[in-house]
Amino acid sequence: MTRSTAGVLSVSRCCIAVIIPDENLCSNSILHPFLYFVKGVFEKMSEVRLPITDFLSNYARTKPIRAHMPGHKGKPLPGFPALSAAFPYDITEIAGADSLFEADGILLEAEARTAALYGSGGLCYSAGGSTLCIQAMLAQMQTEGRTVIAARTVHRAFLNACVLLGLQVRWIFPEDGNLLSGHYTPAQFSSALRASVQAGERPCVYVTSPDYLGGIQDIAALSAVCRGYDAPLLVDNAHGAHLAFLPENRHPIALGADYCCDSAHKMLPALTGGAWLHCREAEKKPLLKQHMQLFGSTSPSYLILQSLEASTHWLRSGGIERIRRTAAQAEALRAKLPQYRWLGSEPFHLSAAADGIQLAAALRRHGVECEYADKTCLVLLLSPMTEEWEFSRLAGILAACDPGAPAVIPDLPEPPEQAMTLREAALSRWEQTPLTEAAGRICGPVQVPCPPAIPVVMSGERITPGWCNVLEFYSADPQQAGICTVR
Ligand SMILES: Cc1ncc(COP(=O)(O)O)c(C=O)c1O
Repeated sequence: MTRSTAGVLSVSRCCIAVIIPDENLCSNSILHPFLYFVKGVFEKMSEVRLPITDFLSNYARTKPIRAHMPGHKGKPLPGFPALSAAFPYDITEIAGADSLFEADGILLEAEARTAALYGSGGLCYSAGGSTLCIQAMLAQMQTEGRTVIAARTVHRAFLNACVLLGLQVRWIFPEDGNLLSGHYTPAQFSSALRASVQAGERPCVYVTSPDYLGGIQDIAALSAVCRGYDAPLLVDNAHGAHLAFLPENRHPIALGADYCCDSAHKMLPALTGGAWLHCREAEKKPLLKQHMQLFGSTSPSYLILQSLEASTHWLRSGGIERIRRTAAQAEALRAKLPQYRWLGSEPFHLSAAADGIQLAAALRRHGVECEYADKTCLVLLLSPMTEEWEFSRLAGILAACDPGAPAVIPDLPEPPEQAMTLREAALSRWEQTPLTEAAGRICGPVQVPCPPAIPVVMSGERITPGWCNVLEFYSADPQQAGICTVR
């Protein structure tokens, strides 16, 4: 125990200061058990500190004249009860509310609590989703002068960040030809890293894991490979905020990644837009914050930030057990339905090889709305908030439906030639070209439907007849399909 330890406990909105002034007191045999009891109580009670929530509640309760933004002034808007209930807590950076990108108060404290839960070196809250986190991770790589080696299965947020930053990418294509949920081996990254280092570059590696279907890459093996080349490993873990809390910790940071983003809003009870950016080394955090403010709004939503704190609190107070229970329930559900060929190994993505379009329509008739469907698969996204009765209903409905035959994914052609830089092509004047006339032209800005928002051909790549076939395969309406081209 330190010579003078002071703690402020928040108990039902009243504050108690605990001051232990002299270290001799701590070694006193009579006082010793008492002081440890007080320390224990302090630690227990400090677990329920909710700095953002407490600040917002206090501010709403004191009802000051709000001579600051936002314009609703915390007042109800007739006819919009849900918004009216939220407005009193929707504030801007007033005194005491801290400032997200220069946090040194309540936001810093909330971030530290979430970081401790995950065991991250540093963690930044994002009210701009994983999209903002991906932009910041890549900006960090740019300041280090890194070349980006990326597994081709990327969300368009990655591609857009590369366009904004003017980054070029060395792509690794999936061994099994599946662009949505590809299989990549550490050996593929190892040879790309070797070639990059031999060319005098300082590489980094970027992978998406879990992918949209719940496919998981071998992050532990990949991080070992990256370390051998002094290359940071960046993971788009937008779909994996819960992975740290499975019986076996499968979170990228625990497995050796240097940076990763988690969309808390996808798998935990957070508001849409709530995400966190982790770094393994604490000293990287200040620069990450600086990069986040390059791209983020200067008015991050305090409602979203509060929901990040709430998710952390929920995890600490029973949420972890709920996550484990849901993983077991999902496993049991899969086992009950052997007629389905399940894809991916992440438990909350209930993904099946199927004629997803007709299966999704059948499920909709039974009152189930899926996350994603195409002619090869269907994805039902679970979370720890999925209840027992929903598992039972889903099991019954899925048993009554026919998954149908999934379309066969075409083999991938040779990687396309990069005829222009990503940035140049994405920011050039473009025209819409039917796929039947696209061969030989250069892909312009990528317009890819979300979900799953995974580009097939990237900006600046020359489209070959083989890639036209792949584009046609993934089009919702091959007759009408077109692509933006710049030349
Ligand atoms: C794999 C992947 N990465 C990144 C993103 C972007 O995340 P966000 O919506 O939190 O900005 C998404 C969104 O769906 C995604 O699926």
